[in-house]
Amino acid sequence: MSNAVIECILNRSAAKYYDPAATLSDDQIRELVRIGTSAPTSFHLQNWRFIAVRTSEAKARLSPIAWNQPAITDAAVTFIICGQLADSSVIPERLAPLVEAGVMPETMVPEWEVPARDLYMEYPQRQRDEAVRTGTFGAAAMIYAARSLGLGSTPMIGFDAEAVHREFGLADDEVPVMLLSIGAESPGNWAQKPRRPLDEVLDLI
Ligand SMILES: Cc1cc2nc3c(=O)[nH]c(=O)nc-3n(C[C@H](O)[C@H](O)[C@H](O)COP(=O)(O)O)c2cc1C
Repeated sequence: MSNAVIECILNRSAAKYYDPAATLSDDQIRELVRIGTSAPTSFHLQNWRFIAVRTSEAKARLSPIAWNQPAITDAAVTFIICGQLADSSVIPERLAPLVEAGVMPETMVPEWEVPARDLYMEYPQRQRDEAVRTGTFGAAAMIYAARSLGLGSTPMIGFDAEAVHREFGLADDEVPVMLLSIGAESPGNWAQKPRRPLDEVLDLI
């Protein structure tokens, strides 16, 4: 099995070294996030926000609360990928563009809102799980888009979540899901690491 998309997936690795002189324009950053937001989300909640840390001042604020990981200083941009606690009350607003475009009949909106309310409203853990799933899907799309553009990427959980929350003014319903550095790589990065054998991770039933 092989095509350009599969090659892109199979050739991606988590970058350690970035060219500190290489920048991305705000339009390139916007385009990466626009592609990221094409990822699927539960009930089309789109419960995410992306903070693009790209100036040396902003990087200097992030670096000490993210283990001083070199990618933050060296990569063109590090996104604080924020997931928002799942809240069914936003569904009418999120579905409105589909209704306006004639894709979804208006009568169907409660058919999405009511089960979402039942699923999440009384269940804080599910709200948070959904925030993390949403942020992760968005980040994954950006990682592969970056690779396809010849850029490196590094997802990072090595940061102080409470400090990032405070320093970057995340709202009460926002979870910093991960940091994601993206930029032109420097030589010396490892290739993708070998994975566990398929037999260990796949159950065919
Ligand atoms: C959720 C998550 C958190 C990670 N956190 C860090 C991190 O804080 N610092 C880092 O250098 N790499 C981090 N990584 C990169 C992983 O170490 C890397 O993806 C893994 O070793 C496999 O490497 P490969 O994808 O290049 O084959 C993280 C990856 C993921 C998915």
